[in-house]
Amino acid sequence: MEAVQLVALRLRVVPVAAYLLRNGVVMHGCLRSSSSTTTTTTSTNGMAGKRMSSGSGWLMDGAWKLPKIVKAGEPVLHERAKEVEASEMKSERVQKIIDDMIRVMRKAPGVGLAAPQIGISLRIIVLEDKEEYMGYDDEEALKEQDRRPFHLMVILNPKLKKKTNRSALFFEGCLSVVGYAVVERHLDVEVEGFDRYGKPIKINATGWQARILQHECDHLDGTLYVDKMVPRTFRAPENSSKPLARGCPKLGPR
Ligand SMILES: *[C@@H]1O[C@H](CO)[C@@H](O)[C@H](O)[C@H]1NC(C)=O
Ligand SMILES: *[C@@H]1O[C@H](CO)[C@@H](O)[C@H](O)[C@H]1NC(C)=O
Ligand SMILES: *[C@@H]1O[C@H](CO)[C@@H](O)[C@H](O)[C@H]1NC(C)=O
Repeated sequence: MEAVQLVALRLRVVPVAAYLLRNGVVMHGCLRSSSSTTTTTTSTNGMAGKRMSSGSGWLMDGAWKLPKIVKAGEPVLHERAKEVEASEMKSERVQKIIDDMIRVMRKAPGVGLAAPQIGISLRIIVLEDKEEYMGYDDEEALKEQDRRPFHLMVILNPKLKKKTNRSALFFEGCLSVVGYAVVERHLDVEVEGFDRYGKPIKINATGWQARILQHECDHLDGTLYVDKMVPRTFRAPENSSKPLARGCPKLGPR
């Protein structure tokens, strides 16, 4: 799920330059420049990459080439993803996929990513939310959304259950879909699964974190937010701050 715009959406559009500066592109630049020394000495054809055994990232001239985020329409995004076998959880392949997912999510930047979004049909999700993704001047929106920073979470084979009938309507974006729309989500959920080393975990989540978990778990069942959005709320990024069409339900808790 996409990071910054979710909050920026309601009250203002973050100017592009400010957005780039604040949200990870600086870090991306650092990663690139630190690897450029090796690049110049070895690369002549640009295809000197070595395929890693994991089947996910590529090692190009000593620097990670991250897998691409696949977009809506790619079959893997519309199918049920496969369980990670218990015996596979600690494997080099799965660990490498998880590391790639974290890098891709942070580079985007996003607050969550599911393995199908990098083209891999496995039930793995990663999520994290950071202060710097949240904008500065919009405390009221953050409070209304019940959005707070939380540390990186990696969950294999997650099983999500709602815990109450409370729900809320807010805009959502997705790294695999260009645009935004309003989606109704449960406010209180419980997720069971395994951490990256195969240890069983169980978490309770509320508010925005619960929303991210639902968005990412949906990916594992081949469901995008546009498959469950409130009709007539979808819009292009350029028009993200426009008011809702007449007759659309109000944003906020139900
Ligand atoms: C949620 O709603 C259903 C019916 O809509 C009801 O049967 C159930 O008791 C409710 N659960 C809670 C926890 O309120
Ligand atoms: C989750 O909430 C339930 C109560 O609904 C509680 O019994 C359980 O201990 C909580 N689990 C965690 C991991 O906090
Ligand atoms: C929506 O965005 C486009 C730019 O892509 C702009 O031309 C148009 O005026 C916007 N719509 C409104 C209602 O502002």
